Amino acid sequence: MNGKKQTTVVYPVPKEWAERAFINAQRYEAMYAASIANPEEFWREHGKRIHWFKPYNTVKNTSFEPGKVSIKWYEEGTTNVSYNCIDRHLAERGDQVATIWVGDHPKDGARSITYRELHAIVMKWANVLKSQGVRKGDVVTLYLPMIPEATYAMLACARIGAVHSAVSTICASNSLASRIADAGSKVVVTADQGLRGGHKLELKAAVDAALDKLPGVVTSVIVVKRTGAPVGMLKGRDHYYNELSDTVPEQCPPEEMKAEDPLFILFTSGSTAKPKGVVHTTGGYLVYAAMTHQYVFDYHDGDIYWCTADIGWITGHSYIVYGPLANGATTLMFEGVPTYPNVSRYWDIIDKHKVSLFYTAPTAIRSLMRSGEGAVKSYSRASLRLLGSVGEPIDPKSWEWYHRVVGDGRCPIVDTWWQTETGGILITPLPGATDLKPGSASKPFFGVKPEIVDAAGNVLDGVADGNLVIADSWPGQGRTLYRDPERFEQEYFSPYPGKYFTRDGARRDADGDYSMTGRVDDVINVSGHRIGTAEVEAALVAHASVSEAAVVGYPHEIKGQGIYAYVILIEDDAASDDLRKELVSWVRREKGPTFTIDKVQFALGLPKTSSGKIIRRILGKIAEDDFTALGDTSTLADPSVLEHLIDNRLNRN
Ligand code: WTA
Repeated sequence: MNGKKQTTVVYPVPKEWAERAFINAQRYEAMYAASIANPEEFWREHGKRIHWFKPYNTVKNTSFEPGKVSIKWYEEGTTNVSYNCIDRHLAERGDQVATIWVGDHPKDGARSITYRELHAIVMKWANVLKSQGVRKGDVVTLYLPMIPEATYAMLACARIGAVHSAVSTICASNSLASRIADAGSKVVVTADQGLRGGHKLELKAAVDAALDKLPGVVTSVIVVKRTGAPVGMLKGRDHYYNELSDTVPEQCPPEEMKAEDPLFILFTSGSTAKPKGVVHTTGGYLVYAAMTHQYVFDYHDGDIYWCTADIGWITGHSYIVYGPLANGATTLMFEGVPTYPNVSRYWDIIDKHKVSLFYTAPTAIRSLMRSGEGAVKSYSRASLRLLGSVGEPIDPKSWEWYHRVVGDGRCPIVDTWWQTETGGILITPLPGATDLKPGSASKPFFGVKPEIVDAAGNVLDGVADGNLVIADSWPGQGRTLYRDPERFEQEYFSPYPGKYFTRDGARRDADGDYSMTGRVDDVINVSGHRIGTAEVEAALVAHASVSEAAVVGYPHEIKGQGIYAYVILIEDDAASDDLRKELVSWVRREKGPTFTIDKVQFALGLPKTSSGKIIRRILGKIAEDDFTALGDTSTLADPSVLEHLIDNRLNRN
């Protein structure tokens, strides 16, 4: 599977990089050591990279102790994220481009927005939100495609102290409804439609369907016109943004926020069917997002930086919007997909906009690799100087291709490991400091203390393979789960008391470099998206024909992992290809397109322990078509189910 292969190839830091980058090897060693030896002093200094209205005194006040988990950074400080991402830059770089937006199809063109323009637009947006009753502390749900308005809406929330909860537009209306309800949003911002790879996304219609399930919860829906298609507008509730903006004032001063006031919530999959609302706060988050953006990508003035992530995921938050804008960078946002109108689209955009720093996901690299080198090589890509990868382990073969073909062998690759819960990158090479090994995320960022533990929680030294925990807090860390602090403590701090459990496996080699080996919980990673197997199971059993379901991941050439579902029907003889298709489209409709099940195997029973617990390890092995290590099956309540499962397996190599 991805990332599991040990590799010995090493690409040393190129000389120009060691000389020119912010951080070289010596500096990394010294700064890392200082950050661990005295985190207070280290972060006291680096907290100054953002502007504070009132200074902080206490730097770090954190505890991972069971029953006392509490994470606070820069407590007494006050600031505003939108001020830091916009106003602070106006004197020096008001006319510099803050954001370049590139439309779905080349004929949709591109738009550049300067910091000065961004300032005026975000103040308008902030006043529009206020006109709809949004106040400091309120949660606003954003269901927006990859258009600049997503950035505006986020910054406008930050400006007035509202908390945004972005929901990716790949989530279907059911998921949207539960997220609106869980967040308690009264205001939703969306677009009439989205455009993606030539397809229209019916976003307003999805909001309507979601709100039908939540009568009386939402009082205002603000609709951005993307395509101008006529959509249903409920009188009194729904308003076009452009109509509202005509009626509000131009000016909106930034609200003074405490460092620990929430900035946003982001729902992500966990090991139960209910998504978790990870809460990020203001000061520490911004310090960490900005610092990692500068050092990991070695962002210098004049760079054109492009992160291809969706704005509705953490990568879009930290590395399209907050990190880059806090650094006064130029950040590119692309509406479309890598394969539309053809497989050269990324390289075309890179040449057109002279992109120098490019950050994408292994799933995109794998699919583009399949289209051959020609589609890449016919573009110059001369502007590129660094490549990044995020979202899942990148296998050495794809890494080599990315390096050799896309980067012409001269661009370092930063394989950045992190999570929604971590707010920013935790383990990564630094391009001027770290020798690169394909498939290895390599070294901890400043202030990050990774450890590898075995199942019993023993800390393993030296070369080791086990579960990855982080032993101490860093400023960008998620603070809690929205309205569920107990689950926060239980999921992340109780498995290994006193430590943050990442729920990822990792291996450390003799050089102290970390390679990620994938999730160790019931979450699978499909094209870089976290899919809780329990969520898929819940959607399956909601279907009238299904009595029980168990879902596992299996290695998939493009998606990294595919979704494999074992389904027990209420009536066995109903099993048919039609029902199979029906179940696939049912889940897709309920949960959205990333939840497209690849394989549905009808089963008569599932392997269970005598206490009734499904043994997923066995199901995973059968899905992988690998019986060499089914492990101990003696605890099975009913050993006969195994034979039927194996005989009817769908992956046969
Ligand atoms: C996986 C995305 C290996 C990992 C930023 C993690 C990775 C989950 C990498 C978080 C990487 C992310 N190498 N695995 N470079 N980056 N992951 O919350 O399993 O959407 O726990 O955050 O993605 O996914 P999330």
